[in-house]
Amino acid sequence: MLIFAIESSHDDTSFALLKDNEPLWMKTISQIDVHKQYGGTVPEIASRLHVKNIGLLIDDLKREINLNEIDLIAYTKEPGLIGSLHVGHMVAQAMGMSLHKKVVGLNHLEGHFYSAFIGKEVQYPALGLLVSGGHSQLMLYKSKDEYELIGETQDDAVGEVYDKVARKLNLGFPGGPIIDKTWREYKNIYLSHYTIPKTDKYLNFSFSGIKTNIINLINNQINRHEEIDWKKYATEFQNTVVLYLKEHMQKAIELYNPKCIVLAGGVSANSAIRAMFEKLHDNVYLPQMEYTTDNAMMIARLAYEKNRK
Ligand code: KG4
Ligand code: ZN
Repeated sequence: MLIFAIESSHDDTSFALLKDNEPLWMKTISQIDVHKQYGGTVPEIASRLHVKNIGLLIDDLKREINLNEIDLIAYTKEPGLIGSLHVGHMVAQAMGMSLHKKVVGLNHLEGHFYSAFIGKEVQYPALGLLVSGGHSQLMLYKSKDEYELIGETQDDAVGEVYDKVARKLNLGFPGGPIIDKTWREYKNIYLSHYTIPKTDKYLNFSFSGIKTNIINLINNQINRHEEIDWKKYATEFQNTVVLYLKEHMQKAIELYNPKCIVLAGGVSANSAIRAMFEKLHDNVYLPQMEYTTDNAMMIARLAYEKNRK
């Protein structure tokens, strides 16, 4: 089965081809350099750039394969920016109509979960930790058709807090990779962490408390005209996130006894979180770096799981 997939939910326009769970081709055009100037994604600009970039990708796709060879067309239906999603939806439907192929609209977050299983098989029940700029949640897949959200953030997403803390420290955007790099350099010097938040629901997260705590400490230092040790703030912030995610995963593993655990989403590129995660279970799946951020291969992989015999 040859699956063609489109991802356009946020600021990446991506096309991918997957044949029987083997990745054949993927091309992604990122808009990050444009949105960077505004300190975050501007939805109207994102939609317009998707229109432009999807045209370029269609030309590339036509050079790659004969479109009639495609068996199934998949696209990201939700969640995401409505204008951006619309572009992918329209192109997928138009291709389906002209090529007389089945079209399936899929969930972006489920796609992230399967990003760690490109070319691999899932052993259910599988426990997933999805950490990105827009989402932070624990997903329990009992089978391919049955998944439960067992925990989610009550406020900010992890990546969002990375970006906000980095902005407060004047480190640039996106903050995740910069804070991670700082952590790698100073992790043996700054060993403490901030208070781990508490939530009413056992497996829910709350990340905004960590952010507010740090921002208040920085503001107090600014008011006292003290020098801000950004390396210490960045390193101890990451120590806190790693410990928090670890404790939650340990609780969820004990409660649900999964056959494998999975890390996914943009923040899964983080070196400390990956290293911590690998030690949590005997059977750990991490996405390859190119599949950590938004990409169409994960949507193709999800379509394969849902439509295979
Ligand atoms: O999944 P993603 O590409 O996009 C959306 O959520 O739409 O995630 C982007 C997020 C950003 O907040 C970015 O700061 C974060 O992932 N990120 C990281 C790292 N690389 C990217 N966070 C922590 N450590 C990293 N190495
Ligand atoms: Zn995403």
